[in-house]
Amino acid sequence: MKTKLLDPSKIGLSELVKTCKEIFDAGELLAFPTETVYGLGGNGLSPVSAKKIYEAKGRPSDNPLILHIGKREDLSGIAASVSEKAEKLMDAFWPGPLTMIFEKTENVPPETTGGLSTVAVRMPKDKIAMAILKALPYPIAAPSANRSGRPSCTKAEHVIEDLRGRIAAIIDADPSEIGLESTIIDMTAEPPVLLRPGQISKNDIEKIIGAIDVDPAILRSSILSHRQVAVPKAPGMKYRHYAPKAEMAVVGGETEREMIEKIRSLSDGETGILTVSEHRDDYREGVVLFLGKKDDPSELAKNLFDRLRAFDAMGVKKIYAEDLSLYGVGEAVMNRLLKSAGGIMIS
Ligand code: TXA
Ligand code: MG
Repeated sequence: MKTKLLDPSKIGLSELVKTCKEIFDAGELLAFPTETVYGLGGNGLSPVSAKKIYEAKGRPSDNPLILHIGKREDLSGIAASVSEKAEKLMDAFWPGPLTMIFEKTENVPPETTGGLSTVAVRMPKDKIAMAILKALPYPIAAPSANRSGRPSCTKAEHVIEDLRGRIAAIIDADPSEIGLESTIIDMTAEPPVLLRPGQISKNDIEKIIGAIDVDPAILRSSILSHRQVAVPKAPGMKYRHYAPKAEMAVVGGETEREMIEKIRSLSDGETGILTVSEHRDDYREGVVLFLGKKDDPSELAKNLFDRLRAFDAMGVKKIYAEDLSLYGVGEAVMNRLLKSAGGIMIS
């Protein structure tokens, strides 16, 4: 399949929206930017489009998709009931990087939800995503636009690398602002349960609706112990994820110095080292990539997937990543970092 590259700065937003609508109406797929990561979209109420999404991604079809909407009123057609707590979270965080799980209506086909009776919904705040979603009479099902198992796409070039030739079009827009997937919370449980950490933290949510639970499968201890303490409630969290092709480990230490020494002792010329700009002169051997400055956790988050992909492109055999928790990054970054490393931590 020939994949069209759509450049919003060339064709303009209204022409772009028109083209996207034609593609979705025809049941075809299109990758679009969101503030979290790029999404691979298709008509969320069409079983045929859902099947195409699983095929293009190479994703197991028991892994449900998130429905994206542009207006609050779009929710009533897909969510069977919406609690007061959910309304409060929407007031606080929509549009934005929060996905909520509801009981689904009959409009949502089982192909979209991996056979579940629940549906995940999010309203993204990215300007382009919003313009497209607002113009559509149906929600858009969109997983992250990476091939299954690879790091999510935070730039159009990542999507081109993974999906060119497999889908109708890719919107060639700016890099994603946040760079990590949305926070997911299951609103069908009481108290609601956090299923995937993201930029909106547990604490942010608890300020709005009071205490919530956390799915044990996403706790750091669970990822590190390699023990599946529980089957994750977000089916996607059970798969090996965000993974670069090279073997990877996170390296910690009592102090930054100790951590650097440890990485130096493990590295040779073929090793990839993931660090911060302040440590520019600390590594003599290996391919060294920088996530950003220590005191800018959002920059570190935004660049994580891009750097993992860059290591792949350079063909390094092993990657040692500094323990970013030393720099105060949030739970979401540590979750992705440790999962990328398959739960391997050296300290
Ligand atoms: O930021 C994001 O959420 C991005 C952008 C494109 O919006 N999308 C995204 O989709 O990360 P995906 O498919 O890569 O991850 C969705 C996760 C999966 O782990 C899936 O298992 C879970 O959400 N999920 C979807 N529907 C669910 C449901 N009904 N119950 C539990 N988990 C669900
Ligand atoms: Mg994904």
